Amino acid sequence: MSSPAEPLLSVRDLHTSFPIHSALLRRKVGEVHAVSGVSFDLPAGRTLGLVGESGSGKTTLARTVIGLERPRSGQVLFDGRDLVTLSGRRRGAKAAELRRIRRQIQMIFQDPYASLNPRLTVRQIISEAWMINPGVVPRHRWTAEVNDLLARVGLNPDHADRYPHQFSGGQRQRIGIARALALRPRLVICDEAVSALDVSVQAQVLNLLVDLQADLGLSYLFIAHDLSVVRHISNQVAVMYLGKLVETGTTDQIFTAPVHPYTQALLSAVPVTRPWAAPPRQQIILTGDIPSPVSPPSGCRFRTRCWKAQPRCASEEPVLAHRLGDHPSACHFPELPAQPQPAAVGAR
Ligand SMILES: Nc1ncnc2c1ncn2[C@@H]1O[C@H](COP(=O)(O)OP(=O)(O)OP(=O)(O)O)[C@@H](O)[C@H]1O
Ligand SMILES: [Mg+2]
Repeated sequence: MSSPAEPLLSVRDLHTSFPIHSALLRRKVGEVHAVSGVSFDLPAGRTLGLVGESGSGKTTLARTVIGLERPRSGQVLFDGRDLVTLSGRRRGAKAAELRRIRRQIQMIFQDPYASLNPRLTVRQIISEAWMINPGVVPRHRWTAEVNDLLARVGLNPDHADRYPHQFSGGQRQRIGIARALALRPRLVICDEAVSALDVSVQAQVLNLLVDLQADLGLSYLFIAHDLSVVRHISNQVAVMYLGKLVETGTTDQIFTAPVHPYTQALLSAVPVTRPWAAPPRQQIILTGDIPSPVSPPSGCRFRTRCWKAQPRCASEEPVLAHRLGDHPSACHFPELPAQPQPAAVGAR
């Protein structure tokens, strides 16, 4: 068991890429470098928010952590065990150990409707996890356990024999959470888990996640486009751009003293809830799309869209290190924001 001091999840120099094959010759003609050397630690019972534009590699990173993608290199250490090395085994004690560990990492997806089998009742959806993973909950406990789980996520246990289409979007996401909790995970990866919900429903589901964390000691890797949501739920934040982390720190460090131009641009797009109370701030509009991860720019990957880029940025890759302020960033010319960052926009 990991103590609060050591991370529950440690990702070390992780690279995940997808081969591109020519349609004609079935030859490999290139690679999509979706995750290119990512490292971070997630302590037990804490939440790491992962942010970045569409296509920056957040989902690929999450899928690699849970073993749905195999990395080209790097380590995924869960409780000190490297899941990448273990995953080579199909049988025997190592494979059994991997199954036991994998059960402790569950994922909640953006679209609960697509991830819930429409032909199964809620009871069957939740019990399925126990059928596939025998030994977690004995069969005679299933009914009671389904009722407990539904109550825990704020659903009426009397509705256990209904089908997913009989629930609202927010309720379906609660079913997704109950299903994830069925295997008693220690780490839950939420990939845009509240993005498709209305703002008020979003806040209720977020509050449920916070309460579950307090009750069950869960750790979350929380992926979201919406920075105000990330701010509300995370203890730490990692900012991802084109397969790499460009800045990491505590939520406060990232939101009040971001030093990487990309983080500053992302934050400047966060709407201010009480504009009359907040000081005026500069909007940074990022021009152009995120470059292709097939052939990322040389040096700093952000330089093609950066208003501060210098010749050095094209020739020398900035590594994630302590440069300015009290948290790591990957920019040759980090600078504190000229104006104060927006005040907290909490969902709670
Ligand atoms: N199975 C795949 N085969 C080939 N390329 C892929 C595959 N999955 C993802 N990619 C590519 O990898 C890059 C990262 O994609 P990913 O889905 O991880 O980004 P993301 O940050 O989750 O984006 P979004 O915010 O839109 O969900 C993209 O360029 C994407 O096109
Ligand atoms: Mg994604």
